[in-house]
Amino acid sequence: MKSITQRIKEKPVIGWLLFFATVLVVFLLGLLASSIIERRAETLFVYTPKVKHTQFEPRNEVWGKNFPREYQSWLRTADTTFKSKYNGSATIDMLEVDPRLVVLWAGYAFSKDYKQSRGHYHAIDDIRTVLRTGAPMNGEKSPQPTTCWTCKSPDVPRLMNEMGVAEFYKGTWEKLGAQVVNPIGCGDCHDAKTMNLRISRPALIEAFEHTGKDVTKASYQEMRSLVCAQCHVEYYFNKKKVEGAQYLTFPWHKGMNVDLIEKYYDEIEFSDWQHALSKAPMLKAQHPDYELYLTGTHASRGVSCADCHMPYMSEGGQKFTDHHIQSPLNNISNSCQVCHREETDQLVKDVYDRQDKIIENRDKLEELLVHAHIEAQKAWELGASEEQMKPALTDIRHAQWRWDFSAAGHGSSFHAPVEVGRIISTGIVKAQEARLKLSRILAEKGFTKEIPYPDIATKAKAQKFIGLDMEKLNAEKQQFMKDIIPQWIDEALVREKTYPTSEL
Ligand code: HEC
Ligand code: HEC
Ligand code: HEC
Ligand code: HEC
Repeated sequence: MKSITQRIKEKPVIGWLLFFATVLVVFLLGLLASSIIERRAETLFVYTPKVKHTQFEPRNEVWGKNFPREYQSWLRTADTTFKSKYNGSATIDMLEVDPRLVVLWAGYAFSKDYKQSRGHYHAIDDIRTVLRTGAPMNGEKSPQPTTCWTCKSPDVPRLMNEMGVAEFYKGTWEKLGAQVVNPIGCGDCHDAKTMNLRISRPALIEAFEHTGKDVTKASYQEMRSLVCAQCHVEYYFNKKKVEGAQYLTFPWHKGMNVDLIEKYYDEIEFSDWQHALSKAPMLKAQHPDYELYLTGTHASRGVSCADCHMPYMSEGGQKFTDHHIQSPLNNISNSCQVCHREETDQLVKDVYDRQDKIIENRDKLEELLVHAHIEAQKAWELGASEEQMKPALTDIRHAQWRWDFSAAGHGSSFHAPVEVGRIISTGIVKAQEARLKLSRILAEKGFTKEIPYPDIATKAKAQKFIGLDMEKLNAEKQQFMKDIIPQWIDEALVREKTYPTSEL
């Protein structure tokens, strides 16, 4: 073998060839570097606005003209094809999956209809079609207040700005039907001038005031969760704050965990409804996603909601935030695997293991609660007094509150497995205590037999058991969808034409 120096000596042209080849490689590398720098510059320049609009522009497509990538990814929240073991982007009829819920919510609108959530794009459609909002037409009012719109749309900050916050919370749901028409979007989370994250909902700001924290001073990383905490939290409607208003309030006055919220509700003697069978003064937990997330390992390591549900993605060399908010299990590589080295299968298994184990105990708690409600009903029938019943009913209230707090957020078994496990076990203890007290009352009344568990194998059977006329409710809803919804949509389109936007 000859060395290169020897070859060059024999044929100098090889030396020149090597020289030019090196020059070419250096030149190409230079080109690559300059293109990378240019792309970076593009990232900065892409924010040049194409259209000017106000903070209260509710239409996502208008904001989307300035930020097409974020808008396109946001549009994908319309997709309903992903399914994980317990969640996913399709509607899941939870009453069908678990008919016990019908009995647990007897006397309350949730027993008519309760579905597992879809993507943000569907928020308006879903609140219109859900049986809980009823069929307000021909002078008939919805059973729900306007407050139910609060977590559905960027039309909400617009209306609160126009009419005042307390006024927004006054009246029944249909009052704002033609006003709230754009699904959850840009104006809910962003400042129109700077595109910084922004808290648009007063309830969150007011809630932090109670805890002594100024939410406007939250850190950048905290904001990546706080924008979600505007809606993904436990709340109640306070009827005592402003005359005639059902004022949206987060019950964080004593603290944000399940026990302190319960204590707050007990002290103000709040209840969402009286149970139709047991007559217990019940609490309905909403979806305390944020409160539970805070107790988990990820929160304590500073991982935000957006880190998992809105990871960065790349398109055409440009890095931006994926606005397709969904189950992270549909996007493990961009979410989990940014931080974890484990294979996809292992990460999915981690999630399912936690969910399986939590659900195993949660089902037991549900069964105990069904028993307790029916036993209380029997005790009333046999002539038990209010005084006798009170301690048992308080246990039922607390046990079901704990069950609901752990079940209502569909991500909580993963977000906070240890806390959710604890809550369910304290719920089981309370439910058992209720049943003990009830069996003593029943025995006093001379009843010592077991009260048979009802046949609630399907949603239809369970709804029949609690006496709901589903045919009527469904027929009314269909009529409402046909007659009223097109009117709301038309009215909104006419109004939106008058909004101040201009092409730049
Ligand atoms: C303005 C209120 C609001 C805000 C802000 C909000 N959400 Fe939601 N979110 C909802 C509602 C309402 C639904 C249910 C929509 C439906 O089922 O029609 C939902 C559904 C979801 C779902 C279920 C999606 C699916 O495919 O099943 C996830 C995940 C989610 N939100 C995460 C987040 C995260 C993360 C944030 C913050 C970055 C956030 N949300 C901010 C109101 C909100
Ligand atoms: C539920 C809250 C939420 C909604 C709704 C939302 N965004 Fe965002 N957006 C975020 C978060 C969180 C980030 C990441 C912010 C950060 O870390 O700087 C972000 C980042 C951005 C950025 C900065 C660049 C980037 O991609 O990181 C732009 C621009 C943007 N969003 C545009 C939009 C537009 C347009 C819409 C409506 C189609 C929208 N957003 C809807 C929460 C939201
Ligand atoms: C931004 C970084 C980050 C992301 C994204 C992230 N994790 Fe983690 N994860 C962590 C950190 C940090 C810990 C704590 C590990 C420690 O301190 O040893 C952790 C802990 C865990 C644990 C053990 C703790 C527990 O809760 O039982 C599991 C399981 C886990 N992650 C799974 C996931 C999955 C699944 C995803 C995607 C859905 C994910 N992680 C996304 C950073 C992240
Ligand atoms: C470490 C990653 C991680 C963080 C942080 C995180 N989540 Fe999740 N989230 C998940 C996983 C994993 C699931 C379970 C998805 C499934 O079962 O398909 C989930 C489920 C959900 C769901 C139900 C999704 C569905 O398909 O119906 C909602 C809503 C949700 N999370 C909201 C939030 C909110 C709000 C925050 C912040 C307060 C948050 N998440 C923080 C990983 C995370």
